[in-house]
Amino acid sequence: MIIGIPKEVKVRENRVACTPAGIRYLSDAGHTVLVQSEAGEGSGFSDAAFRKSGAEILDDPAEVWLADMVVKVKEPVEAEYGFLRNGQVLFAFLHLAANPKLACCLVEKGVSAVAYETVYTNGRLPLLAPMSEIAGKMSVMAGGVYLANHFGGNGMLLGGVPGVLPGKVTILGGGTAGMNAAIIAKGMGARVTVLDLNQERMRYLSNVLGAQVQTIFSTGQHIIEELKDTDLLVGAVLIPGATAPKLLDRDMLRSMKKGSVFVDISIDQGGCSITSKPTSHENPVFVEEGVLHYCVTNMPGAYARTSTEALTGNTLPYVRAIADTGVEEAVRSVSGLRGGLNVHKNRITNKAVSASLGIEYGGSSLDMDD
Ligand SMILES: NC(=O)c1ccc[n+]([C@@H]2O[C@H](COP(=O)([O-])OP(=O)(O)OC[C@H]3O[C@@H](n4cnc5c(N)ncnc54)[C@H](O)[C@@H]3O)[C@@H](O)[C@H]2O)c1
Repeated sequence: MIIGIPKEVKVRENRVACTPAGIRYLSDAGHTVLVQSEAGEGSGFSDAAFRKSGAEILDDPAEVWLADMVVKVKEPVEAEYGFLRNGQVLFAFLHLAANPKLACCLVEKGVSAVAYETVYTNGRLPLLAPMSEIAGKMSVMAGGVYLANHFGGNGMLLGGVPGVLPGKVTILGGGTAGMNAAIIAKGMGARVTVLDLNQERMRYLSNVLGAQVQTIFSTGQHIIEELKDTDLLVGAVLIPGATAPKLLDRDMLRSMKKGSVFVDISIDQGGCSITSKPTSHENPVFVEEGVLHYCVTNMPGAYARTSTEALTGNTLPYVRAIADTGVEEAVRSVSGLRGGLNVHKNRITNKAVSASLGIEYGGSSLDMDD
């Protein structure tokens, strides 16, 4: 198969969808890999390194997008919609529940779109997890910086100092991102509370993270009680494939201390507050109800070397399977890929995505029911 790796065009997105080692793995298996020139620069991989691994380097993105399968990091932006075409396989983060325009475009053009974030196997999301680990860790690092007075924050140092109470970090959702946020917050010496709906998950967090991290069942009332003395709030909830549940309204945010910070990691699925709206690394924060909102949709793009290695190490077996057998056979034979297939033959083929978008589910008619 011919595989295309375009340069990412989303604002300050430095990741690339494959490392030179990954290119070698695919080209040794007999596949042709086209890489757009400078695609790896932001992650520290030169064109020469890709070429040495067997890639063909092309200047024109249009030529790269002519490949049978295009492997990307982030969803295509509007400037790339013209490259989408019938029968092409697209493998990338897509977050279609929060992006109806792209979803309709993929359906209309007949693209077979496989979303990293809904590849689901053994109760896990193996391609989302490495990025959630990074975003979770970053959320406390970034949130701690914006608590500084000169950014408009309330001036609380999360770790405190002897004789002064540390700051309080409240985390909504104790999955992969939430747990990694809790690890960093705990390491800094902050007081940490995690709210989740899953009792088993909270038992696990308690056992692993110990008494410095409190867990509380997630209800509206419990969230309101925790917000009063919270300095840093992290949104890390997920219902796979679906729009993020809205757990915060304006009254709740107004009840928080002025200058507290809210990092909404779940913004890529629409965000968990009615005040959340996507931002970029160029202009990451805005203020609503006295609370600084950090809503960057591609947080791991800021630490591209780590993120690229973590992502491609996980995506590569799936890329190889699709390239070896084609998308339909790969979806039938590789555990997890069925959940990843969001659009195929002009239909939405993931039930949660179809329910969130209000577009008819078309998986059954393809003999590929969940
Ligand atoms: N902004 C970014 O750059 C970025 C990067 C990576 C991941 N993400 C996003 O972060 C979010 C979290 O991802 P994850 O991998 O940690 O997911 P996960 O499935 O591992 O964890 C989600 C957790 O949310 C919990 N949850 C669901 N509804 C809840 C509710 N009402 N109250 C409290 N908890 C609730 C679930 O029980 C689960 O434990 C996703 O939306 C993901 O796409 C964003």
